[in-house]
Amino acid sequence: MASEPTTVTITGGGGQIGYALMFRIAAGDMLGPDRPVRLRLLEIPQGMRAAEGAALELQDCAFPLLTDVDVTDDPLTAFNGTRIAMLVGARPRTAGMERGDLLAANAGIFGPQGNAIGAVADDSVRVVVVGNPANTNALIAAASASPDIPSERFTALTRLDHNRAVGQLAEALDVAAGDIADVVIWGNHSATQFPDVAHAILPDATSVLEALAERLGGEAAAAAWLDDVFIPRVAKRGAEIIEVRGSSSVASAANAAIDHVRDEQHGTRRGMTSAAVVSRGEYGVPEGLVCSFPVTSRGVGSHGGGYEVVEGLDLDARARARVAASVDELVAERDAVRALGVL
Ligand code: NAD
Ligand code: LMR
Repeated sequence: MASEPTTVTITGGGGQIGYALMFRIAAGDMLGPDRPVRLRLLEIPQGMRAAEGAALELQDCAFPLLTDVDVTDDPLTAFNGTRIAMLVGARPRTAGMERGDLLAANAGIFGPQGNAIGAVADDSVRVVVVGNPANTNALIAAASASPDIPSERFTALTRLDHNRAVGQLAEALDVAAGDIADVVIWGNHSATQFPDVAHAILPDATSVLEALAERLGGEAAAAAWLDDVFIPRVAKRGAEIIEVRGSSSVASAANAAIDHVRDEQHGTRRGMTSAAVVSRGEYGVPEGLVCSFPVTSRGVGSHGGGYEVVEGLDLDARARARVAASVDELVAERDAVRALGVL
């Protein structure tokens, strides 16, 4: 076992996703069985008791990899020396709140947190934003940490959308989820996202499009299923979960955040996955936006620098239009935040 623990900070440590995350991280599901972990839970004063209670339960699990747990409402303490920051706590949208109000409220959270990460986090820090609106919150945090931390260290979670797309395809094709590779989520973690299966394959390299056509009775039927069922189902799955469960996704969101960090740290295993990363202009997406792309990782360390966008995929005109619509929404969110004087 490596001797020096990795400091992982979870914001919103008293909330639902925080609770679903911390036990799996402490059990080694994210960083592996050889890396001891020090957990730091950041909360606002109202959430401190819930986070403290979770810390008591962590102690009662006696996880061999967990060296210590700190609960704090001070961002400078929470991010001190952190190597992995999972920004989960956010201001939820409440009745009567306009989109601009939501962006402003979250800018008031992710700006100071980005600032604190820039000031006190470990030089190697990697940040994943889960709290919504995740892409734009990541943009704000990255800008606020600059120039201390390079902006490409900030990512936002679209792995949940990716996993949802894989789950839907597995059901439609009656195959195991692990058989499906190279699905791509493009754009924003919102209903405008584009879940793209044009490059997806099965283990024998059969294209998912061909398999769908065979199962559904031809190419036209497959195309109709993708447009009318699959894309809206994946893009609106968050709302479906809220309607059926009565509150937003928790365990699946935590699972996706663990997948995201594990693959960034240790490398992607089979083909591409999806993550929202800072655009360098790939596929015509304006530079600086935090946009979901096809990505791979060779891990973090001497051999690699985390997620890299897979370039050169062919997008037909319809796919380009769908990507553009989601990117337009990201531009509008960025402009709204700029208008607030935050960026
Ligand atoms: P929750 O309300 O149960 O927990 C959020 C916690 O964050 C609360 O305990 C709250 O006190 C805390 N918090 C608020 N402001 C904070 C701050 N400034 N610093 C530290 N903590 C703060 O919510 P949840 O179910 O855990 O969801 C958290 C976020 O994740 C929401 O924004 C939700 O919309 C989002 N989400 C994202 C995805 C995704 O795929 N990107 C999926 C599901 C949920
Ligand atoms: C999800 O995709 O489940 C969430 O982002 C939905 C939400 O609004 O919290």
